[in-house]
Amino acid sequence: MALPNGRPDLDAIARAHGATGAVLPADAPAGPGPRLLELRGAPARPAELEALAAGLGESDLVLLWVRDRGEDTATLAAWRDAVWPLLHLGAIWTAGADGLRRTTLQGSESLAGAGGWEGAVLVGSRRSHVLAPDSTAQKFDANAKGWDGEPGTPGYGHFRWMRRLVARQAGRPEGAARSFRRILDFGSGAGWVGIEAALQNPGASLAAFDPSPAMVEIASANAKASGLADFTGRVGFGEDPPFPAEGEDPYDLVLSSGVISFSPDHEAWLDGLARTVAPGGTLVVGDIHGGSRGFQRRRRSKPLLPVRELSACTRDQVRAGLEARGFRFHRWFGYQLSRPVPELMHLDATRLGGVLARPLLGLNRLAAGADRLLGSPAQDLFDSWVMRLHRPS
Ligand SMILES: C[S@@+](CC[C@H](N)C(=O)[O-])C[C@H]1O[C@@H](n2cnc3c(N)ncnc32)[C@H](O)[C@@H]1O
Repeated sequence: MALPNGRPDLDAIARAHGATGAVLPADAPAGPGPRLLELRGAPARPAELEALAAGLGESDLVLLWVRDRGEDTATLAAWRDAVWPLLHLGAIWTAGADGLRRTTLQGSESLAGAGGWEGAVLVGSRRSHVLAPDSTAQKFDANAKGWDGEPGTPGYGHFRWMRRLVARQAGRPEGAARSFRRILDFGSGAGWVGIEAALQNPGASLAAFDPSPAMVEIASANAKASGLADFTGRVGFGEDPPFPAEGEDPYDLVLSSGVISFSPDHEAWLDGLARTVAPGGTLVVGDIHGGSRGFQRRRRSKPLLPVRELSACTRDQVRAGLEARGFRFHRWFGYQLSRPVPELMHLDATRLGGVLARPLLGLNRLAAGADRLLGSPAQDLFDSWVMRLHRPS
């Protein structure tokens, strides 16, 4: 992967990521083909970024060749932030004394053909392409079983507890009704949040949608196995939700957990969400907290991060967005203790056979309960947030 003059073989790197054709300079006029951005000095927003954005096709790759201090992970993480939100990095190629390596979110491998250049080549794509509808549906179809949780594994109790906790935030409807009658799970995944809510409101109908057909199938099977008689699943996206269809009513309870960070357009997603809630209805929405202790540390120390971690909204942004759409905020709190609890859970699941699962779940329950009781003064100690809102009649 080296050329005689000490340059990395950028065309070969681009080809290894599925691109065809020669790598073009950042400011090449619009047209298909991978692009090259050379980065030097201290990380800062590159001056060529605007020209690059103008000429770059939706699915074109960008190779960012970091020519100084290319193997220092903190520097690479700072370059990642400098090109965000136009680009998201999917891979890093490094060359140096120990040969050529390619690192992706799935891991790192040593490659033949090293030498001849030093530094790092970062492989980026448009954020909008990484979060495009087709990529999302494919990604979740491929790993649908993984998002369903696996009964009997050390993490399963925690997985189900989080879904139950979110569902419980619905509480009781405002006004005279004793329970919710029509419930929607907005970006349902395997369906557990909506299922828990429906189980807490016997006789309610449950509607659920997700971009991934495989997820909708799993949600439907889970609803049936949980004894829910009235379940309807559809495939669709939050930005243009498939519920309520024309002629159908909006819902008196809508829940959406862990979804907005996957959306390429938060405003369109919030518009879609708001549309599904009936006047007088209740909305429970939650997601990851990108500013938590653990996520902040990952941000500083890891150049490659899932697009969702970088794209997450703060809870203040979501609250303000929903208040602007007429919702009345009720309460919020943090749950899922941040670093080092997830790291301990991973260690427990992979090395300790689950002996810590119960104490760690107990700690999480206690901490979430305390944060809720106190009005959530400690958001940064938690990796996730949840809030409840009401749509006035
Ligand atoms: C982290 S999972 C959460 C699933 C479920 N709500 C839960 O709490 O278990 C995120 C889900 O959001 C879905 N999703 C991604 N982008 C979406 C979008 N724009 N609109 C609606 N759902 C989306 C994914 O297919 C995936 O099933």
